[in-house]
Amino acid sequence: MPAVILERVLVAVGLFLVGVAAYDLVQRKHAILRTFPVIGHLRFLVEAVGPELRQYIVTSNDEELPFNRDQRRWIYSSAKRQDNHFGFGTDKDLERSPNFLIIKHAAFPLAATTSDRLPCAKVLGAARGRRLAFRPASAVNISGMSFGALSGRAVEALNRGAALAGCWHNTGEGGLAPHHAHGADVIFQIGTGYFGCRDAAGNFELSRLVDLAAAHPVRAVEIKLSQGAKPGLGGVLLAAKVRGEIPAIRGVPAGKDCISPPGHREFSDVDGLLEFVERIAEATGLPVGIKSAVGEPAFWHDLTARMAATGTGVDFVTVDGGEGGTGAAPLVFADHVSLPFKVGFARVWRSFAEAGLTDRVVFIGSGKLGFPENALLAFALGADAVSVGREAMLAVGCIQAQRCHTGRCPTGVATQSAWRSRALVPEVKALRLTNYVSELRRELLQLSHACGVAHPALVTAEHLEVLDSRFGATSVGQLFAYEPGWAMPSDADQAAIAGLMALPV
Ligand SMILES: Cc1cc2nc3c(=O)[nH]c(=O)nc-3n(C[C@H](O)[C@H](O)[C@H](O)COP(=O)(O)O)c2cc1C
Repeated sequence: MPAVILERVLVAVGLFLVGVAAYDLVQRKHAILRTFPVIGHLRFLVEAVGPELRQYIVTSNDEELPFNRDQRRWIYSSAKRQDNHFGFGTDKDLERSPNFLIIKHAAFPLAATTSDRLPCAKVLGAARGRRLAFRPASAVNISGMSFGALSGRAVEALNRGAALAGCWHNTGEGGLAPHHAHGADVIFQIGTGYFGCRDAAGNFELSRLVDLAAAHPVRAVEIKLSQGAKPGLGGVLLAAKVRGEIPAIRGVPAGKDCISPPGHREFSDVDGLLEFVERIAEATGLPVGIKSAVGEPAFWHDLTARMAATGTGVDFVTVDGGEGGTGAAPLVFADHVSLPFKVGFARVWRSFAEAGLTDRVVFIGSGKLGFPENALLAFALGADAVSVGREAMLAVGCIQAQRCHTGRCPTGVATQSAWRSRALVPEVKALRLTNYVSELRRELLQLSHACGVAHPALVTAEHLEVLDSRFGATSVGQLFAYEPGWAMPSDADQAAIAGLMALPV
């Protein structure tokens, strides 16, 4: 570079820095800049890129939350069909890790399997004779995450991937979008805003739901009571985001805040809920269930008591753990409201067991269950299926930047920005989702075979133990106060599984 140009560049940079320094000294917002003009900006820069620095450079393999590097690596490599093995042996400190799960293998395991065929051990809606009862082809499915929280292209990738994997795709509470219409079976979720099935005043409109179910491959309806990451709170999609396709899909006015209230208008007690369930099941013929996080126990005792007394009831229960994800929630709700999955699910399952109802309900779990060991524990506690949310996001390209609430997702998964979502190519990411779901099912089957049984539904709480940090270990059955034989499918369901799993792959 000629010396004269270099000189001018240096003068320009010098003047710029003097300008920044002058501004920093007189501005009143940031104390650090008033004391340390110019170099004080480094602090903001480091704060901004700190999460990425820690994620890739500083933290160890199993340090981060919600998902550590080992977990993310397992999802990414499974999704890309790359080698997902880990070499040299465990890097977990088994003797100093309290609550460490141990799966007790059988001395005489079943033959090795490479199959990923994992149908649900129960028929959804059979116990109450729903017209459109069905056996879910996959015991691993995609959890509800609305179009609105996720980009249209992410929803499309999930839907296409779910279709290829033969699992269902839950719409989330934001209604059924064209992005959900790429071949997968759909579970339609009804949230407190009744989006997609409401009238102009925001009341639930049954005829809209019936029309919607008739026009799409809706296989079941899920009434959302609450979500683990923000129970009892509801939510809001800000006016700025209520544009484009969203107002028509949700049935809300454009350019106004779109509110999900904390509770439902259609019912305010268990009898009202059960009446609502029957109304929907009768009109649509579909199995109808609820999704809820676990807080006060009275609700579950009332629900099981009324179900046992009346013979009416929900066809499925999705229990969402407090460690579950969300597009946006206040920190205190995400951290402190509602029980974590294992504790909450076991309490709910025990309520149903004590009322003698577990064979009449399909239990679904969610809350970081998209890993073989976590899913297996859920099955051992009585889950018949698991739903994966953020793990599915990771499979389609999420990097855990944790910016879902800002709309500035760097990978186009959780944003409504056309520019950012352009990065995500649905056809490519759909295959990743399929591979991930297939690998999770395969490893679940391999674990079951290692335990000497053909299906994870046959793995019991006695197959699992939890280590403490004093060389002690307690069975999961004992820890969660399960009686021997609990959480096993009925004789009829066991016979059906034996038949299904014996089919050639
Ligand atoms: C971006 C995002 C949006 C979500 N939207 C919904 C929703 O509309 N309805 C719902 O019931 N749960 C919603 N959830 C919660 C998930 O369905 C799931 O229950 C929770 O994240 C736990 O599963 P995971 O640990 O596999 O993510 C959302 C989660 C995320 C991360």
